[in-house]
Amino acid sequence: MKGIILAGGAGSRLYPLTRVASKQLQPVYDKPMVYYPLTTLIEGGIRELCVISTPQDLPRFMQLLGDGKAWGLTIEYREQLKPAGIAQAFLIAESFIGSDSVTLILGDNVFYGGDSFHRAFAEFKSGATIFGYHVNDPERYGVVEFDAQGQAISIEEKPKQARSNYAVPGLYLFDNSVVAITRALKPSARGELEITDVNVAYLRRGQLRVHRLSRGFAWLDAGTSSSLHEASAYVQTIEKRVGVKIGCPEEAAYRAGFLKLDQLEELTHKMPKCEYREYLDKEVIAEARRLAASRP
Ligand code: TTP
Repeated sequence: MKGIILAGGAGSRLYPLTRVASKQLQPVYDKPMVYYPLTTLIEGGIRELCVISTPQDLPRFMQLLGDGKAWGLTIEYREQLKPAGIAQAFLIAESFIGSDSVTLILGDNVFYGGDSFHRAFAEFKSGATIFGYHVNDPERYGVVEFDAQGQAISIEEKPKQARSNYAVPGLYLFDNSVVAITRALKPSARGELEITDVNVAYLRRGQLRVHRLSRGFAWLDAGTSSSLHEASAYVQTIEKRVGVKIGCPEEAAYRAGFLKLDQLEELTHKMPKCEYREYLDKEVIAEARRLAASRP
């Protein structure tokens, strides 16, 4: 499976923060925002990635993430000239997707906790898999309604009157028909190729699975000044309390088996002395060596 990180958009709700740097490059506590969705994809076992952003911002992402080799990944880049909808990603990245299945993650979505994603990635074979997450304000999102058996029966984009409290987070897994489905879509009233319309197309075919995420799972989108601040506070709280980092691609790549311990060490020792380096050194590398030494 291939992975797309969609990191374009206008970022107008974060103005003036986004005057010179896009939303997904802003800090969420101690890392650039895009590190979090990147880490989620690596944890899902995805090695071939494509980052889509605006022509102005794409060079910054290239500077930050490079070709991915250092993390045992390949990263390609594509421009989205205008924010013409989330689903447009599948047309922009068509040559990258090729004949594979693909997962799309939004560059401003932060996920933490549980193994729901791991299972969904591991079990994915065909059709589409999306998620449902209980929120207070479903009207801001795509909303999924379930029947008594827990089957999804409707999905609506930003409805005035939501039929349930289950919002659809920005992580979607599709088989290769997503490209043809998107090509057949018409732009919505707001002029966008809607991801909800893609999901509805799969629902009509009887090929949409919706996993409900448990309440202990955290989904944060960092699109407004308040939610950006809250996401930072959340990450800081968990990192301090638990002593692990959320959204650390180096650690995720090592744990996914994309990097050997020696490679992780080499990479870490190129970093300036900082808390991030200290974490990798002490909590990941030294711990792995200690465990290896204690094995009979
Ligand atoms: P939004 O938060 O809905 O839009 P935005 O980022 O443009 O922000 P604002 O409403 O404040 O102007 O987008 C969700 C995510 O999807 C975000 O990471 C940007 C990305 N996106 C694109 O990259 N291209 C698009 O065409 C759209 C609609 C969104």
